[in-house]
Amino acid sequence: MSEVLVTRDLRKSFGGIAAVNGVDLTVREGELTAIIGPNGAGKTTLFNLITGFERPDSGKVYFMGRDVTGEKPYNLARMGLIRTFQIVRPLRNLTVLQNVLIGCRVRGLGPEAAEESLRAVGLWEKRDVLASLLTHGELKKLELARALAMRPKLLLLDEPLGGLTFSEAEEVTGAIREANANGTTVVLVEHRLRETFRIVRRVVVMNQGRIIYDGLPENVAKTEEVVKAYMGGRGWVLGT
Ligand SMILES: Nc1ncnc2c1ncn2[C@@H]1O[C@H](COP(=O)(O)OP(=O)(O)O)[C@@H](O)[C@H]1O
Ligand SMILES: [Mg+2]
Repeated sequence: MSEVLVTRDLRKSFGGIAAVNGVDLTVREGELTAIIGPNGAGKTTLFNLITGFERPDSGKVYFMGRDVTGEKPYNLARMGLIRTFQIVRPLRNLTVLQNVLIGCRVRGLGPEAAEESLRAVGLWEKRDVLASLLTHGELKKLELARALAMRPKLLLLDEPLGGLTFSEAEEVTGAIREANANGTTVVLVEHRLRETFRIVRRVVVMNQGRIIYDGLPENVAKTEEVVKAYMGGRGWVLGT
């Protein structure tokens, strides 16, 4: 399988804190991978470095074999490297459909891409509703639909299940799975391990800016360093 994303010794510090401290990550075409880890592990910063929202202090990012280190987010999006945000940021005075259409335009796609992605997340019936009137769960779905409508080659999702009800989370994991089955390579950062482990085939654990585990979901909780990292944090129970 070909390498969609490669990071080489990626580093970023804020003040004295090494948020990302030498990350080598390779993602191959067709993967559906989760990045997990305690709060402050560097997951969002890693996404920011990959997608051009922050510039690395050192290290390289390769997308589809091309060095894209420090490339602008807009250019990366046009190339098919799309991300969502932990805190959703839709244009609140536009409708659901209008929000998604903006994404389509960036990639030179027509409105059928918008309809398809809104149907995939179960928001098509709400297409004419102003984004400002949506619930939290609907906003998270809109964020995902906007990203899917851009027909990503690589989709990075930052806590797509955050704050969702169980049934909403089920719809969203279904949409992620479907996108992956249709050829989109997906990396998601998540705290909801039970739902996440059900859909991914690979788990990467970060702690203090480094990767401390990379392998099958079923072996994560058996790895001593991972268990320790979690116990030092907010006390999540792995494997639940
Ligand atoms: N813009 C920033 N300015 C200062 N510190 C930051 C900034 N972004 C992240 N950090 C710090 O970097 C570390 C990693 O944060 P983050 O990448 O958000 O972790 P995670 O997403 O895994 O919770 C944390 O200590 C955080 O406080
Ligand atoms: Mg984060």
